[in-house]
Amino acid sequence: MGGYGHAATMEAGWMGKPVTGRARLVAGLAAVAGLMFGLDIGVISGALSLIAQEFEATQIQQEWIVASMMLGAAAGVLVAARLSFVWGRKRTLVIGAALFVAGAVFCALSGSVGTLIAARIVMGLAIGISTFTAPLYISEIADARHRGAMVSIYQLMITIGILLAFVSDALFSYFDAWRWMLGIVAFPGVVYLMGAAFLPASPRWLMMMGRRDAARRALLELRGQAGGVARELAEIDAQLRGQTRGWALFRGNPNFRRSVLLGIMLQCIQQFTGMNVVIYYAPRIFGLAGFAEHARLWGTASVGVVNMLATFLAIGLVDRWGRRPMLVCGLLVMSAGMALLGVMIRMGPDAGVQQAMAVGVLLCFVAGFAFSAGPLVWVLCSEIQPLQGRDFGLACSTTTNWIANMIVGATFLTLLDRLGQGQTFWLYAGLNALFVVLVLLFVPETKGLSLERIEHELMAGRRLRDIGREGVPGGVGPA
Ligand code: BGC
Repeated sequence: MGGYGHAATMEAGWMGKPVTGRARLVAGLAAVAGLMFGLDIGVISGALSLIAQEFEATQIQQEWIVASMMLGAAAGVLVAARLSFVWGRKRTLVIGAALFVAGAVFCALSGSVGTLIAARIVMGLAIGISTFTAPLYISEIADARHRGAMVSIYQLMITIGILLAFVSDALFSYFDAWRWMLGIVAFPGVVYLMGAAFLPASPRWLMMMGRRDAARRALLELRGQAGGVARELAEIDAQLRGQTRGWALFRGNPNFRRSVLLGIMLQCIQQFTGMNVVIYYAPRIFGLAGFAEHARLWGTASVGVVNMLATFLAIGLVDRWGRRPMLVCGLLVMSAGMALLGVMIRMGPDAGVQQAMAVGVLLCFVAGFAFSAGPLVWVLCSEIQPLQGRDFGLACSTTTNWIANMIVGATFLTLLDRLGQGQTFWLYAGLNALFVVLVLLFVPETKGLSLERIEHELMAGRRLRDIGREGVPGGVGPA
């Protein structure tokens, strides 16, 4: 295994100022991918009604304008899984960044519903490529002690992107300028492209390609410590021996199947919390709670602010409290939030106190997500896959994220119609309660563990929830 002492070894590197600065800069640049993700998720809600007016788009066309991006994203993940193996993580990030710029310009210049949908697919490809490659890259260059926080920074950037998109939509809406709403994304896209071009290649990927010297140079650049670097290279070496990959590993190895299914389950949990119902339909939910036009926009902006602030909390606590307690706590808050929101919406929007309470409850729900499932699912997904199957495992879980995202976005209005308003929120309350049980049963605590140790215990058949726990017997068989 060899990775047990990894955290302590790396600490020396992190103590030296230049190393810390360099590694953080690298992770920060990769995390700008998250900013782009958030911007693109956020911009469409404000732009859609203006687009619909200009092109006289039907309901179905509007749905496709929204959903085409998620379809493109699911496809982008699959493309990235192949590219990031063959061409490397860094080059794949650069390709994703270039597509962002191209897609945003294409969106802004679209002259019809058809071209806009095509442009949104290009944007989706860019997002899919980035959402697959950025967390993978970050987890491969960050050390065990700071990995959780690093990947959470990626989530923070998503929330900042969403907030900026809400604010920029509100500002451009005074000029009915939907082309600017969609096109403005090209500017941060250019910064991202330039940043990505200067990132070092992932040392783990270089080792997979047999480029040992280049891997050593990349590690030295990141860690700055020859001793620690030699040990880390040896650990990666040990993992790569006897390597099988992807689909073959999935078919042949039940332990790897567990980590793939765990990743898929985690992403389903994240999406079926109902968070994107809030992101896409916040103004409408505020409407259900009885808010007038103007107040709905302010409500939506406050969702963006709380989403961002609570993510800071997660970044501070993820490597201290651990993943499991934070997930359970957040899911309980979300379950209670959805249940209460359903009650309030059913009681009717008459009283001012009720309205204020509905906002409070919705914001608690958002904070619950941003403090738990938002960042932690990405953290866990980047941690749990063994190196030989990491690309495959992450491709499965990230594709699941986008498909589940599409299902949630495309069913909310129908659910409100068919199930009823209160019941729709209660359905999500029930799902969040169920997810608490699933987390307790299946999710390992990966806080402070090296990727090598997680992999070793997973592949030795240790029960998922016992991985990393001291004093619990190993080799207990599938969870
Ligand atoms: C999710 C997105 C969601 C965002 C909200 C991300 O972790 O993957 O679907 O819109 O969080 O902040």
